[in-house]
Amino acid sequence: MVRIGLLGCGRIGRMHAELIAGRVPGVELTAAYDFMAGAAESVVADFGGRAYDDPAGVVAADDVDAIAICSPTDVHIEQLEMAAAAGKPTFVEKPLSLDLGLTDRGIAAARAAQIPVQVGFNRRFDTSHRSVRDQVMAGDVGEVHLVRITSRDPAPPPISYLEGSGGLFLDMTIHDFDMARFVTGSEVEEVFARGAVRIDPAVGEVGDIDTAVVVMRHANGAITTIDNSRQAVYGYDQRVEVFGSAGMVASDNPTTTTTIRRGVAGSYGSTVPYFFIERYLQTYINEWSEFARVVRGEIDSPVTLDDGRAPLLLGLAAWKSLRENRPVLVEEIG
Ligand SMILES: NC(=O)c1ccc[n+]([C@@H]2O[C@H](COP(=O)([O-])OP(=O)(O)OC[C@H]3O[C@@H](n4cnc5c(N)ncnc54)[C@H](O)[C@@H]3O)[C@@H](O)[C@H]2O)c1
Repeated sequence: MVRIGLLGCGRIGRMHAELIAGRVPGVELTAAYDFMAGAAESVVADFGGRAYDDPAGVVAADDVDAIAICSPTDVHIEQLEMAAAAGKPTFVEKPLSLDLGLTDRGIAAARAAQIPVQVGFNRRFDTSHRSVRDQVMAGDVGEVHLVRITSRDPAPPPISYLEGSGGLFLDMTIHDFDMARFVTGSEVEEVFARGAVRIDPAVGEVGDIDTAVVVMRHANGAITTIDNSRQAVYGYDQRVEVFGSAGMVASDNPTTTTTIRRGVAGSYGSTVPYFFIERYLQTYINEWSEFARVVRGEIDSPVTLDDGRAPLLLGLAAWKSLRENRPVLVEEIG
């Protein structure tokens, strides 16, 4: 058994605790901490383990083999440093941080301690997206020319969440930046972003956007376009297409059922899953299965610290591009 100590028991931490406890063989929850009184107690009551009143207690516990950092983004790095000091393998949610200097500090601490770290880019564990990557890597579409990523949420988060999130590019598009690197196997060299407020003026009032297109040039010459919206009325729209000299490969949305109805006016089918938990639940289970193997030393981390850092650079480049109304070279960022 790989025994997990959880830091952060909010929306995603509670979901991970549930999966660790009930859906992933070979892992169990033994400790939890949350800044908010009662949150860790509630999670351990439902999913096992002991609640602690500080993160250091979780990290130091003898019955904790590995740490899961699911706390707010602004404390990821200090908690990664705690885990590194204790020499414990760590799973850390995306993004590593919103600050490049802090990120590099955390990466240096983890490397110095030689702990394995897996970053929470869960979409890499979607079997359809992974199949796109595998076919691209096998050369099935030839030389890659274009990548199209569509990523639209069903509804915007609360304005209070947006204020600390890093905004659309660092909170939401960051998954798509990761996907662009994942399916092409090629780093991004240049980013051009357009953004708008098309859904809720309150989003603009906190300096964010809710609608965007990003165009990126990869080191191998391929061009990726990403389109984002915070509000797709039909659900969580997630599609990836890679087009190349020998054809194309794409992952489409699943539908909630396979039922179809036909009438005189046309045909009707089910819509797409509502949001990320409905669409990507299996990816979180898969990421935990792989993390357990990382902790046991059976495989290297499938989402490395470098994979955590690169999309942060692209998010910072996208914000700079939008603000300065020009393409930004990634090397300008760091
Ligand atoms: N991979 C994904 O699909 C995905 C999805 C959602 C969120 N996330 C990431 O997970 C992280 C948490 O997001 P969330 O949606 O669960 O947020 P949330 O606000 O629902 O939960 C965060 C929890 O952390 C607690 N907390 C605050 N300070 C803490 C500290 N110092 N140590 C431990 N806990 C602390 C809060 O009380 C809260 O319960 C963010 O970095 C977010 O970007 C990833």
